[in-house]
Amino acid sequence: MTGVRGRFFSFEGIDGSGKSTQARLLADTLRAAGHDPVLTREPGGSAGAEEIRRLLVEGDPDRWSAETEILLFTAARRDHLEKTILPALNAGRVVVTDRFADSTRVYQGATRGDLRGHVDRLHDEMIGREPDLTFVIDMQPGAALSRGLARASGEDRFEDFGIAFQERLRSGFLALADDFPDRCRVIDGNRPAEAVARDIAELAQASL
Ligand code: ADP
Ligand code: TYD
Repeated sequence: MTGVRGRFFSFEGIDGSGKSTQARLLADTLRAAGHDPVLTREPGGSAGAEEIRRLLVEGDPDRWSAETEILLFTAARRDHLEKTILPALNAGRVVVTDRFADSTRVYQGATRGDLRGHVDRLHDEMIGREPDLTFVIDMQPGAALSRGLARASGEDRFEDFGIAFQERLRSGFLALADDFPDRCRVIDGNRPAEAVARDIAELAQASL
C-alpha cells in the first residue's frame, strides 16, 4: 500500500532500565486498543541483524573497538529497517522497538571516544529515519545494573563495562533527550512497571 503511514516508537535507556518490559507492555496495550503492533528490538529484529547481534553482545568487553561497533550496529540497523521496520510502517502498522539509533549515538558516539560525528554521518547515509516518539527510561545505574546482571543471560558484554560507564550513558541519554525535544520523552523508570507503563501508554495513544 502506498500513502499509508504507520507510527514508529522507540525505547532507550541504560541496561536494565526496563525497556524490554515497557516495550512489551506498550505493544500489549496497543493490541488491546485494536492496533496490530510490531514489537522488535536492536541489535536484532530481523534474521540478519540477529546474527550480527551475537557478534556484538557476547564475548570480551574489548572484543571490538568503538569504530568497529559503529559499523556493526549500523549494518544490523540497516537490515532491521529494510526487512522489518519499513515494511510494517508502509503497511500502516505501529512499530515498537527496544532501542534504535539513539543507542549508537550514546554508547558509541559519546562514551568511548568522541565519535558522534561518524555516528551521525553514517546514520544520515544509511538509515535516515528517526522514530516519531522515543521513550527515554531514566533510572539510577546502581539499581538498573543489579536488575540487568540478575538476568545472567550471557549477553552481558556491555554491562561488564561497569557502573561508571553506565553513569556516563545515563547522562548521555538525558543530553540526547534535550537535543531532540520534539520526539523524546524522559520517563522515570524507578517505579513499579505498571506505573511506568501507564505514563507511556498515555503519551503513545495521544500521539496516534
Ligand atoms: P532492559 O530491557 O532495559 O535491559 P528489562 O525490561 O529487561 O530492561 O528489565 C530488567 C530486569 O528488571 C528484568 O528482570 C525485569 O523483569 C525487571 N524490571 C523491569 N521493569 C521493572 C520495574 N519497573 N521494577 C522492577 N523490576 C523491573
Ligand atoms: P540490549 O539487548 O538492549 O541490552 P539491555 O537489555 O541490557 O539493555 O542491547 C545489547 C547491548 O548493546 C546493550 O548493552 C546496549 C548495546 N548497544 C550499543 O552499544 N549500541 C547500539 O546501537 C545498540 C542498539 C545497542
